[in-house]
Amino acid sequence: MPESPIRKLVPYAENAKNRGIHVYHLNIGQPDIKTPKVALDAVKNNNIQVLEYARSEGSETYREKLSEYYGKNKIHVSAKDIIITTGGSEALSFTLGSITDDGDEVIIPEPFYANYNGFSIANNTKVIPIVSSIDDGFALPNIEEFEKLINHRTKAILICNPGNPTGYLYSKEEIEKLKVLVLKHDLFLIADEVYREFVYDGNKHNSVMSLEGLDQHAIMIDSVSKRYSMCGARIGCVVSRNKEFIQTILKFAQARLSSPTYALIASEAALETPQSYFDEVIEEYVSRRDTLIRELKKIDDLKISKPKGAFYCIAELPVADTDDFAQWMLEKFEDNHETIMVAPASGFYSTPGSGKNQIRIAYVLNNESLIRSVELLKLALEQYNS
Ligand SMILES: Cc1ncc(COP(=O)(O)O)c(C=O)c1O
Repeated sequence: MPESPIRKLVPYAENAKNRGIHVYHLNIGQPDIKTPKVALDAVKNNNIQVLEYARSEGSETYREKLSEYYGKNKIHVSAKDIIITTGGSEALSFTLGSITDDGDEVIIPEPFYANYNGFSIANNTKVIPIVSSIDDGFALPNIEEFEKLINHRTKAILICNPGNPTGYLYSKEEIEKLKVLVLKHDLFLIADEVYREFVYDGNKHNSVMSLEGLDQHAIMIDSVSKRYSMCGARIGCVVSRNKEFIQTILKFAQARLSSPTYALIASEAALETPQSYFDEVIEEYVSRRDTLIRELKKIDDLKISKPKGAFYCIAELPVADTDDFAQWMLEKFEDNHETIMVAPASGFYSTPGSGKNQIRIAYVLNNESLIRSVELLKLALEQYNS
């Protein structure tokens, strides 16, 4: 199993904290946004006497309410098309387990969410990366390039939309191109849409579940973690109209018995969250993104692409090895007893040697902290390169 590039530097950060240094965490997608009160209250205000197992696929009521929520987002699915999972992580792992035999292949544009590597290795699935470039904002690579990678072992194309770590939002045309390709070669199109709400600048999110003619091929991965800032609840789901696929996923769900009951209660209640909550959260993220990009642009020889969604961006730095640089910032660098922690981007690639001069920044801190963090990054680069 590969280490998580997001978490592997944690011991160095802990050491820095023990030395009295404040560490700004830009490495992990843990938002500081408050969880909706309605979700927390649902757990506090009940008098459960026996904390029972839940249904393996999630309760009928939760899945019904989720299907209504999707309906409002132009995704028309029924409760039967949804299996509740323990986080989007489990949804991804079960999906790979369900659609691949040992050695089967899944094509993924890279850089991609680092744990796709881990889930694939755990399921003996082979990741076939296809490189997207910072120079065009990590747009979908040419569809001809995808087609060249397809062979008898290819089972799916997996995209993350909007993207972690890129912040890229796939256009309707790009999704349509993928649709034509998966239909031609009878592949699954898996879309990790856990950041669906986090779309900026008036852009629209295009779900794979809204595409016509893809009922047997489209699989959506979802989660409450980011939507309601409920990462610790550990609730997600898999959505597909392909009945055989859903039946297979259910077997995985039955084997792990159920998702955590309290977290399910919180997640069901979270569906009552008013739109005003999301409006405020989106406004906050847009402001943070704009602050981050504005400040990063002040650093010489640094390349970035402006994210259109999610809350991450990839920055290309004037250093040869960001694994070394990120560790150095925690071990050797400080300014006024402060430093930053970032995720080296090499772990978001599966092509060896790729992303060595890139980092992923999560803009999950307030504007003031972001401004200071970029100032620290600038100082660190100057010292490291001198
Ligand atoms: C793209 C993406 N997919 C899936 C996950 C897993 O989310 P969770 O298991 O918390 O639902 C994450 C978490 O950061 C993510 O960024």
